[in-house]
Amino acid sequence: MSEISELRPTEILLSEAQIQKRVAELALDIRHDFPDDLHVIAVLKGAFIFLSDLIRHIPGHVSLDFMAVSSYAKGTTTSGEVRLLKDLDTALSGRNVVIVEDIVDTGLTLTYLQDILLNRNPKVLRTACLLSKPSRRQIDVKVEYVGFTIEDRFVVGYGLDYAERYRNLAHIAVLG
Ligand code: IMP
Repeated sequence: MSEISELRPTEILLSEAQIQKRVAELALDIRHDFPDDLHVIAVLKGAFIFLSDLIRHIPGHVSLDFMAVSSYAKGTTTSGEVRLLKDLDTALSGRNVVIVEDIVDTGLTLTYLQDILLNRNPKVLRTACLLSKPSRRQIDVKVEYVGFTIEDRFVVGYGLDYAERYRNLAHIAVLG
């Protein structure tokens, strides 16, 4: 049997209710910091559920764009290599931009994205991530809005996958 078929979601790390409460708080923090112009960039695919819940809790106008990067092939270890698979549709010049990421692990993906986006002259660039694993960091990347800080465990659900599985779970579970 392959490794992929043996690993499954085990204990629930964050329940649906815990996630929803925290996402609503993050949304209000972001709106508070950017009451007028706010442009949100979600990183596909992992951030799509976080994004959709987050923006529904942000009152007023918010514009959206998407990027896609690949940092993991299959399995639970990073290759350290980041590839841009889909670029933005709109310019960032003079905008208040918030990157929305699912999880910051080594920090390589986010550092790569922040470098690319800073070169496009946004007025402000900040980052929101649902989860952060600080013990895994290889680069000291700045994240202004963190949903939950977690231990070094591979997690799935709420948009996060293992070999394209389990993104549709409403909670976040440890893979084991
Ligand atoms: P980093 O470049 O090592 O920070 O990795 C960031 C990306 O790795 C995330 O956007 C996820 O796609 C993936 N990743 C890291 N840790 C996990 C995890 O525990 N579960 C699922 N995906 C993860």
